[in-house]
Amino acid sequence: MATVIDGKAVAQTIRSEIAEEVRALSQKYGKVPGLAVVIVGNRKDSQSYVGMKRKACAELGIKSFDIDLPEQVSESDLIKQVHQLNVNPDVHGILVQLPLPKHINEEKVLSEISLGKDVDGFHPLNIGKLAMKDRDPLFLPCTPKACIELLSRSGVSIKGKKAVVVGRSNIVGLPASLLLLKADATVTIVHSRTTQPESIIREADIVIAAAGQPMMIKGSWIKPGAAVIDVGTNAVDDPTKKSGYRLVGDVDFEEASKVAGWITPVPGGVGPMTVTMLLHNTLEGAKRCFE
Ligand code: GUN
Repeated sequence: MATVIDGKAVAQTIRSEIAEEVRALSQKYGKVPGLAVVIVGNRKDSQSYVGMKRKACAELGIKSFDIDLPEQVSESDLIKQVHQLNVNPDVHGILVQLPLPKHINEEKVLSEISLGKDVDGFHPLNIGKLAMKDRDPLFLPCTPKACIELLSRSGVSIKGKKAVVVGRSNIVGLPASLLLLKADATVTIVHSRTTQPESIIREADIVIAAAGQPMMIKGSWIKPGAAVIDVGTNAVDDPTKKSGYRLVGDVDFEEASKVAGWITPVPGGVGPMTVTMLLHNTLEGAKRCFE
């Protein structure tokens, strides 16, 4: 049976470390880190993610700046808001929750965030540096950073290993593959046009699943002893639940946990770590300003 990686517990440990550092900074400089969380419109999933981010800030002593804009806001007004946050000395991190409404060009907005405040790590220059050898971005994207942190805190070495990333999104799959490459893994990306993904996944010492397909990866696809990090958060109907649904990952946990060496559960694996990495990035941004 696999070791189940307790993301909630690891996240709690790191959050305590961050809270301690925030207290020390506050005593030394009389200032605390600040994170601006910008949300456009009222998508339920985005509101829930943004709520978690703001709540976590409050718990750790990080000041959150809450910017809630209507669905119809123009691209230029959103960019004006970003510019104001760029020059606000109390704001050390800016996060624009994605996806944005269709009439707004996401890349254009993300490109306007000051590089030193890009705590999501989505600015094209930060992503570009992530893709280049011997260059370091100012911030690493939160979910891929969470995956690597879970592997390293579980004692899984990456160097020289065969890693397979399932999914190629800008937010998770692509940056996760770049981070694994930086950590000296041999990386393959499997995506929706890959033929026979199972034969490729079966070769992997490390699997990062970020396809958004409920329980797509079966136990028989996993190499015995592999480390499996499941980023998927899929709601599936479940009439036995009060809510009518339950969350499952991209991996069939019951089957895969009998084969893998390590595995993250859903929920309670990568999710709690992603918000924690955002807070960590905000702390880093603030330290660069204060010190
Ligand atoms: N939407 C889904 N995941 C993310 C994330 O990590 N950051 C932002 N800004 N939006 C998201």
